[in-house]
Amino acid sequence: MLPSRRHFLMGAAALSAAVATPEMVRAAAALEASADWALATRDLEGDVAPQTLKLIHGRAPRGLEGTLFRNGPAKFRRPGGSATHWFDGDGLMRRFDIREGKATLQARFADTLKRRTETELNAVVTPGFGTAGDARARVGSNNDASAANTAVMVAGDKIWALWEAGSPLAMDPTTLATEAFVTLRPDLRSMPFQAHPRFAPDGTIWNVGTSGDNMVVYHMAADGGLIDAKVVKLPRASYLHDFTATDRHLVIVLQPWVFAHGPMPVINQLEWKPELGTRVLVLDKADLSASRVFELPSFFFFHLGDAWADADGTIRFDVAAGADPRFAVDGARVRAEGRGPVPGPPADLTLITLHADGRAEMVASHIAGEFPKANPRFAGLRRDLTVHTGGETTGRPLPTGLAVHDWSSGRSDAFTFGTGHVVEEAVFVAKPGATTERDAWLINPSINLRSGVTELHVFDAAHVADGPVATWAADLALPAGFHGAWRG
Ligand SMILES: [Fe+2]
Repeated sequence: MLPSRRHFLMGAAALSAAVATPEMVRAAAALEASADWALATRDLEGDVAPQTLKLIHGRAPRGLEGTLFRNGPAKFRRPGGSATHWFDGDGLMRRFDIREGKATLQARFADTLKRRTETELNAVVTPGFGTAGDARARVGSNNDASAANTAVMVAGDKIWALWEAGSPLAMDPTTLATEAFVTLRPDLRSMPFQAHPRFAPDGTIWNVGTSGDNMVVYHMAADGGLIDAKVVKLPRASYLHDFTATDRHLVIVLQPWVFAHGPMPVINQLEWKPELGTRVLVLDKADLSASRVFELPSFFFFHLGDAWADADGTIRFDVAAGADPRFAVDGARVRAEGRGPVPGPPADLTLITLHADGRAEMVASHIAGEFPKANPRFAGLRRDLTVHTGGETTGRPLPTGLAVHDWSSGRSDAFTFGTGHVVEEAVFVAKPGATTERDAWLINPSINLRSGVTELHVFDAAHVADGPVATWAADLALPAGFHGAWRG
């Protein structure tokens, strides 16, 4: 909030004190307390029944048929105690369906033990990434603490709500009814399984899960069936939210935010040690014991883009690189509180190159970007494009735009909704018969802060700056989600 607006509100309250009604005072206090972006971390009190969205701009492209599933936290506050970190709200699965030119929306909370316990107690008690929890938590395993709130993947005829420190939670893709935690093999029950699986050109899926310096590597078929799982020892116990992969390699970026001993929540167990630099571990998919290590300057990150290897062995991938973990520790708390400035600059979209001779380098685009996603048809293969959210500025959290960055030309094709929108991650959806990366649509929601509703947008990936080709509006605002997946 601008200082002048704050002073104006305070001054107005003082001036009108003699005549103000209690309602006026409460309204002024509410304005003072919440930021204009606070809808992005609002509480949703229940599931959202299926509704038809209203087309408010353009028209649905011919041939665009499918479902965008999105996951994200949607219940943070309870009378007896609240989540104190953005990452610890209860997971809400959203289902945006586009058929025959029409769009519908449905959303349903993941039915986790955490949510059942906290609904019964009317208090958030479960320890999480940034929320301490208390002795009333009923946690006998990792899965018992799962908020199932981070991402979603399509696994055969199910969708899996993904978290990070425990197993995927299977849900029905039509009704969004919660089924059960997925046990890929009896000895993998309740093991960490990260929110960012990587899809290989051969149709199989790779993922990892970490606990300190131990990392489980999962290799799965397209239906989620386990092909193999192995444990790899890491050279450093870094916090790892995401990894990446080429068609032949797993790329594990070990940032200097490392686990030390300490009580929950997770952020209290981590120490920022920039003097360690960033280390990149490259594993051979065909032989996980074959590894190489690269050294880079210190940076902080949550998200990587898909990687690819050139014919000479050079590996490239992009990262939304931050200077330090201030956002993860303090910025996400600010978002959960719905007020205040977020410390530190936004992440900088950056290309990392690992040369065959062992050198590594990173080149910043100097474009503020987060939620990088590539066209899934090119996952693990040579590509030029990354779609990302943009427009974040120091102090004011959350993106206001969308852009496609071309790493070959350095060109950014960007559209800004402005500060009246909170813009969410976009996914590439290939057009029928597509052969190139650009021959795709981008699908993403935003929260229109002025009208107070969630909107769903379709962009042409080759013409982002032209703005959406179609926009539908819901009749309510869902809080901002994290990650989505498209099922055609
Ligand atoms: Fe993520």
